Amino acid sequence: MTVCEYKPGLEGIPAAQSSVSYVDGQQGILQYRGIRIEELAEKSTFLETSYLLIWGTLPTKEELEAFEHEIRYHRRIKYRIRDMMKCFPESGHPMDALQASAAALGLFYSRRDLDNPAYIRAAVVRLLAKIPTMVAAFQLMRKGNDPVQPRDDLGYSANFLYMLNEREPDPLAARIFDVCLTLHAEHTMNASTFSARVTASTLTDPYAVMASAVGTLGGPLHGGANEEVIAMLEEIGSVENVRPYLEDRLERKAKIMGFGHRVYKVKDPRATILQNLAEQLFEKFGRDKYYDIAVELERAVEEKLAHKGIYPNVDFYSGLVYSKMGIPTDLFTPIFAIARVAGWLAHWKEQLEENRIYRPTQVYTGLHEAAYIPIEER
Ligand code: CMC
Repeated sequence: MTVCEYKPGLEGIPAAQSSVSYVDGQQGILQYRGIRIEELAEKSTFLETSYLLIWGTLPTKEELEAFEHEIRYHRRIKYRIRDMMKCFPESGHPMDALQASAAALGLFYSRRDLDNPAYIRAAVVRLLAKIPTMVAAFQLMRKGNDPVQPRDDLGYSANFLYMLNEREPDPLAARIFDVCLTLHAEHTMNASTFSARVTASTLTDPYAVMASAVGTLGGPLHGGANEEVIAMLEEIGSVENVRPYLEDRLERKAKIMGFGHRVYKVKDPRATILQNLAEQLFEKFGRDKYYDIAVELERAVEEKLAHKGIYPNVDFYSGLVYSKMGIPTDLFTPIFAIARVAGWLAHWKEQLEENRIYRPTQVYTGLHEAAYIPIEER
């Protein structure tokens, strides 16, 4: 067996062959199944994009209608799952609540029949349909309220915002939210997708695959960064404080949240789209001082760090968009998960099509033939 050079974080090492999405980090290009993200953001919907990612082609009108219909039908969650969630501490992070609830789906839909296309379809539909309901239910229950039932007359994103805020959303906000989901739906071999594929490769059930990916997404170096961006903008507090804050962070070799990417060495194309969406929202619902701070910070970071290829990533502007919609900061990452379920499912399916269990190797740096020292001599 050839022994490869050890690369921390597996940087540059292909972990799978995949036709789901493509990134050119030098030119700032992202494509889902070959279609540019800019085009999907403008012309598609999150559910149509999910279909594209999972089944590999854009659906016909009839296929899309059937898919949307099935998802609408499966949005409700069992009362036992709701009761389980009611017992979660309200101080718990919604990502932990989501991870536990996603795993719990496996208790209710446990038949594992991975060679059966009907089983695969049912799992895809259930996960896309129920995860938003679980996120919204936890949000209401931790406030002491009963969860709101999904509304069949509302589209995917409008229904989620309705379940979250207990009122029908503004159509522009619902459309922008849907675009945000499309932008976050997939992104090649990132940490949570890798985690999903490793878990899938053991042929466990898809709910365990999603729970494992949700757990991985939660960390501040991955999906958790958008929460940290808002905390950072609040800490900066004013446009005047941007440069002193940046100087201080860089002196302490601290990272600036929402900047930098393992793959992109230019501005993340999703950050550009999100910035435009933020502007549309601010135009309709009023400008926000945090947006001005963000724009100034982007400018200042570019002056200082562009030579290292550090530019805004997807998390930099997404938090501003969600904040403007009145969404609590600790729901930003669960919302990222609602979107990324589409990508994880596409990778789960792809992994099963040509599966081999992941079993990498390691570079052992420990002792050999060490003596066992009796406890009284230690
Ligand atoms: N602020 C300041 N310097 C940075 C930043 C940043 N945000 N990101 C990278 N650098 C510097 C880093 O200090 C290092 O400099 P030097 O070579 O002088 O030591 C160089 O750039 C390479 O950094 P790295 O940490 O080795 O890069 P990586 O590919 O391992 O990490 C990253 C990528 C995204 C984890 C990192 O850029 C980071 O921690 N960013 C802040 C957190 C963040 O915004 N995460 C969201 C990522 S995008 C969405 C997602 O994947 O979920």
